[in-house]
Amino acid sequence: ANAVPSLCGIPLKYLSLLTLAVQNSALTIIMHYSRVSTPASQAYSAATAVLMTELLKGTISLIIAFSRIDSTPAGYEPLTPHLASQRPLSRLNTRLRKLGSEVFSPDCWKLSIPAILYVIQNNLQYMAASNLDAATFQVTYQMKILTTAAFSVILLRKKLSPSQWLSLLLLALGVGIVQLQAVSNKITPGSSVLVGAHDMNPMKGFLAVTAACFTSGLAGVYFEMVLKNTPSDLWIRNVQLSLFSLLPALAPIIYEYHNNIDQTGKGVFEGLFMNFGVLAWATVLVQVLGGLITAVVIKYSDNILKGFATSLSIVFSFLASVALFSFHMSITFVLGSAVVLIATWLYNQHPARVTESFTWLKSS
Ligand code: C5P
Repeated sequence: ANAVPSLCGIPLKYLSLLTLAVQNSALTIIMHYSRVSTPASQAYSAATAVLMTELLKGTISLIIAFSRIDSTPAGYEPLTPHLASQRPLSRLNTRLRKLGSEVFSPDCWKLSIPAILYVIQNNLQYMAASNLDAATFQVTYQMKILTTAAFSVILLRKKLSPSQWLSLLLLALGVGIVQLQAVSNKITPGSSVLVGAHDMNPMKGFLAVTAACFTSGLAGVYFEMVLKNTPSDLWIRNVQLSLFSLLPALAPIIYEYHNNIDQTGKGVFEGLFMNFGVLAWATVLVQVLGGLITAVVIKYSDNILKGFATSLSIVFSFLASVALFSFHMSITFVLGSAVVLIATWLYNQHPARVTESFTWLKSS
């Protein structure tokens, strides 16, 4: 079992869940704002944002992983006179070699699957945020709980109680009710669109969220399996995740560049960061923070509890949307959100137990 550390007396488990809830609402709002506040022709590249997120997250994880590696060379007893007298430069060398061998461990390929899934998901998230209002996106994204449960049952062999199955049905129902709101917003233009500069397509947004829910469930459960069935450090796993993300994150950028090079005549770098302003960077930073907290939450809690934390963020986003975006609060939205919250509460009444986990992941 993992020893759960604490910060200022608060267990990291609860601290990370609460931070994740706040981060989730901040991300929903800032991402939506950054996408719809300009006409589509002046939008920044979502693919660049995803790549920047991975680079930053990977660098931070690498620094943390490095700081956690001690400089004891394999085969030496700690505190031998030899070690104590090691020069700083050779200590650094030892630590760097250790870091390298841990990052490029024989089982690092296991992270390639969640890495590819998360890159797809992160791109889909931008598409969804561009086409749905912040609160509708937030509530619809709760279908993650459904897919996470399904993948937990299939891959982790989790057993769900009848009340948990019922709560999953309620969740789908609640999300459906909230969808009615999205459709009515489309009929009444401007009722929930923040600035109105960007045309939103709720159907496209809904399809993107649905696909993102599948990758979220699968990637989350897969990451949890790797993390909990193998001894490697969380931060080393994060570095591996970011490394494997680089190639799929670069793919759409190369594609976009090849398609647009003739029209814009801009250089690679200029093209990458076209319209990439303060809001785009703010979205990237909040996304980086979210990735790091998500990793901590999956380590010290699990994906099910993560679902609970993010459903809390519905309330935060909802209130913020009303205050900031004059979000049109219809009875359907309130009813749908209430059903989603009740479903989440019901789901967490009797947490599922893992009965069996994938044993093949235990061997590297
Ligand atoms: O919505 P969901 O909780 O599935 O989102 C997970 C997010 O956290 C994704 O953006 C993913 O890239 C990020 N993540 C991460 N590092 C992990 C696990 C998830 O950056 N170890």
